[in-house]
Amino acid sequence: MKTLVDGYKRKIDYLRVSITDRCNLRCVYCMPPEGIELMESKNILRYEEILRIAGIAAKNGVTKIRLTGGEPLVRKGLLDFIRKLSEVPGVEDLSLTTNGVLLKGFAKPLKDAGLKRINVSLDSLKRERFAKMTRGDDLDRVQGGLEESLKAGLNPVKINMVVIKGFNEDEVLDFALLSKTKPYHVRFIEYMPFDAEAGWQKDKCLSVNTMREIIEAHAGPLEPVRGAAAGAGPAIRYRFKDGDAIGEVGFISPVSEHFCGSCNRLRLTADGKLRTCLFSDNEIDLRTALRDGSGDGIIEKLIFRAAAEKPERHHINENVFKKCSRTMSLIGG
Ligand code: GTP
Ligand code: 5AD
Ligand code: SF4
Repeated sequence: MKTLVDGYKRKIDYLRVSITDRCNLRCVYCMPPEGIELMESKNILRYEEILRIAGIAAKNGVTKIRLTGGEPLVRKGLLDFIRKLSEVPGVEDLSLTTNGVLLKGFAKPLKDAGLKRINVSLDSLKRERFAKMTRGDDLDRVQGGLEESLKAGLNPVKINMVVIKGFNEDEVLDFALLSKTKPYHVRFIEYMPFDAEAGWQKDKCLSVNTMREIIEAHAGPLEPVRGAAAGAGPAIRYRFKDGDAIGEVGFISPVSEHFCGSCNRLRLTADGKLRTCLFSDNEIDLRTALRDGSGDGIIEKLIFRAAAEKPERHHINENVFKKCSRTMSLIGG
C-alpha cells in the first residue's frame, strides 16, 4: 500500500468530507442572516462519487473519515451512504460533525449504520443566547440529540464550543462542568477568522490559556490525558484531577498556538474540490476527473498532488493574513 505523505513528512490519514453546503442554522460566526449563495445541485458530488474517492484514499493510507457540512444531517439518503462508507476497506474511524438540530431521531440509526462517534456544535446553554448565536430556537433539540447520542453508544460524544469574548465566555465554566456528570468530551475552540460578515476581530478571540485558567480557578486543577488514547487531532485533552469527572475537556488553539505541525488531513468540499488546508484557497478539482471517465489512477494522482501541495502552516495570527474565499459552511470546519 502507498501512503499519502505531504511535503513536510506529515502522514495524511484523515479525510474530512463536506457532503452538503446546506444548513438549517445561520450561526453568526459562519453566515449572514440570509444565508449564502448555494451550490447548484448538479455540482454537488453524488454519494457514489464520494464513495469512489473514499475507496481510493483508503487504499493510500486514509483510515479516518469525518462527514461535515453545512449540516450533514439535512442531506437525504445519509444512512445508506454511511452504511456503504463504513464498509469501504481501510476505513476504521467514521465520524460526523453536526449542529445537533436533527440529531435526536438520528443518533441510533447513525450508530446502526456504522458511525462510530460524533462531534456536536453547541455554544450556549442559555436559550436566548443560543438563539442569538445560531439564529434558531433549537437548544432543547440539540440537548436531546446529545443525550440520545450517549444512549445510542456513539463514543466519544464531543461538544464543540466556539468561545467569543463578550458573547459566551461566561459559560466556559458551565461547559467544563458538563464533563463531570456525563462522559462528554467538551472542547473549547478559539474563534477563527472565518466569517461571512467580517465580524471577526482579534480581541474577540479568547485564548485557550485564559479559558483553562477560568476553569481551574473555579473547578479545580486539570491534568493532561496521556498515552495513545490522547491520539492525534487538534485538541489538547485534559480531565479534572480530582477523579470525579467521567468526561474530559479539550482545548483547540488555532489562533494562539497553531497545531499545523501535526496536521494529518485533507478536505473534500461538497462540489468535489480537495482543499489542502482549512485556510488555503488552493483546491484540486476531483469532480471533473470523476465525471469525464478518468480511471482511478488519475484520481489517485490528484489526491497525491493535493497532499504534496499542503502548506506548512496557516498564518491567521499574522497581520498579513488574507481571509479565505469560502465560508466555514462551505468547507465543513
Ligand atoms: P476529531 O479530532 O477527529 O474528533 O475532529 P476535529 O476536532 O478535528 O473536528 P471538528 O469538526 O469537531 O472540529 C473542531 C474544531 O477544530 C472546529 O472549529 C474546526 O474548524 C477545527 N479544526 C479541525 N481541523 C482543523 C485544522 O486542520 N486546522 C484548524 N485550524 N482548525 C481545525
Ligand atoms: N471559529 C472556530 N470554530 C468554528 N466553527 C465554525 N466557525 C468557526 C469559527 N469561526 C466550528 C463549528 C463546528 C466546527 C465544524 O467548526 O462550531 O463545531
Ligand atoms: Fe450551520 Fe455549522 Fe455554519 Fe452554524 S457553524 S451556520 S451550524 S454550518
